[in-house]
Amino acid sequence: MTAPAASPPGLFVPIYELAAELFISLDGIRMPGRRGETVMSVLLRNAAALGRSEFDGRSRAGFCLMGACQDCSLWSMDGGRIRACMTMAEDGMALVTAPPLAEI
Ligand code: FES
Repeated sequence: MTAPAASPPGLFVPIYELAAELFISLDGIRMPGRRGETVMSVLLRNAAALGRSEFDGRSRAGFCLMGACQDCSLWSMDGGRIRACMTMAEDGMALVTAPPLAEI
């Protein structure tokens, strides 16, 4: 019997692996993705959570997957807020799990 191939440490487990077509980053950690994937799909194939709840500090991984609950909110480096489940991944996206601090 052959051991299964190692899977990425993500919450979503793909049924087969395909070569990366793009890369996005979350809090500086670079993650491979494919054209046509949402940000949420890329992140949760490569990580176990999208971030931490601002209310109780517990891990977040989205809830509704249709843009209604805001549990998948992330920020771009310019301060724009996105919903990971409703945003298509684009090569070079740099996202953070907390709003960037405003310059004083
Ligand atoms: S998971 Fe609910 S808005 Fe994205």
